[in-house]
Amino acid sequence: MLLEQHNIINQPRHIAIIMDGNGRWANNRGKMRIFGHKAGLESAKRAVNFAIKHRFNALTLYAFSSENWNRPKQEVSDLMELFLYSLNHTIHSLQKNNVRLKIIGDISQFNLRLQKYIKKTEQLTHKNNGLNLNIAANYGGRWDIIQGVKKIVDKVQKGSLYPEQINESIFCKLISMNELMPVDLVIRTGGEYRISNFLLWQIAYSELFFTDVLWPDFNHDIFSSAISSFLKRKRRFGHIEQTVM
Ligand code: IPE
Ligand code: IPE
Ligand code: MG
Repeated sequence: MLLEQHNIINQPRHIAIIMDGNGRWANNRGKMRIFGHKAGLESAKRAVNFAIKHRFNALTLYAFSSENWNRPKQEVSDLMELFLYSLNHTIHSLQKNNVRLKIIGDISQFNLRLQKYIKKTEQLTHKNNGLNLNIAANYGGRWDIIQGVKKIVDKVQKGSLYPEQINESIFCKLISMNELMPVDLVIRTGGEYRISNFLLWQIAYSELFFTDVLWPDFNHDIFSSAISSFLKRKRRFGHIEQTVM
């Protein structure tokens, strides 16, 4: 409701979310952490529906960081199972809603079955031109920058790029989400005020919104509050506000 009151021009086009707090949500209920992750998956679906409804151009969800491998073996394998399950069970709804799915991150570390499903879902939804849904899985902002640097080095070695030609716009095209709009807004749930190696380069000028709400409790009202907060911000990008002389 709140969103409709604002001019569509000011709406954020690309939103990224650090979906944190599943474990604590389960813990508060005396349940195993996987119970929180399953509730987190439902919450992610709600967020996707919100993004579709409000016609955002892109939604990027942080699902598994490159550091999350350090969790207990059982939790990691439960998360992989859940990832596989969600790919299998959401394909129909992605197609129905014209959503283009992309996984960002180093998928070569996942088991072959999961890699196969990732590629299959990406291929099937490739031509959709509604919401761009990016799932960051085995993603790290530092990894993303390094893999971009490796591509630059490769081009220089092959002679297709001179070192003096390297600039921000060339580099931008070699990191994740190169073809999309810049990230306008980053939301983090779960009460922590940090980026945890999520997008680094891509959020240089994003607005940030933090909430104590644990991810499984994230809903359309809180999403609307984040957007309302964004709409009140003055994005100056280093300039000064226009003043009347
Ligand atoms: C975020 O919730 C989901 C993943 C990192 C996979 P957490 O699992 O980090 O939940 P908390 O922070 O322990 O509550
Ligand atoms: C960030 O949450 C990663 C994801 C939401 C996937 P973490 O729970 O892993 O972050 P830290 O460890 O508290 O910084
Ligand atoms: Mg956490």
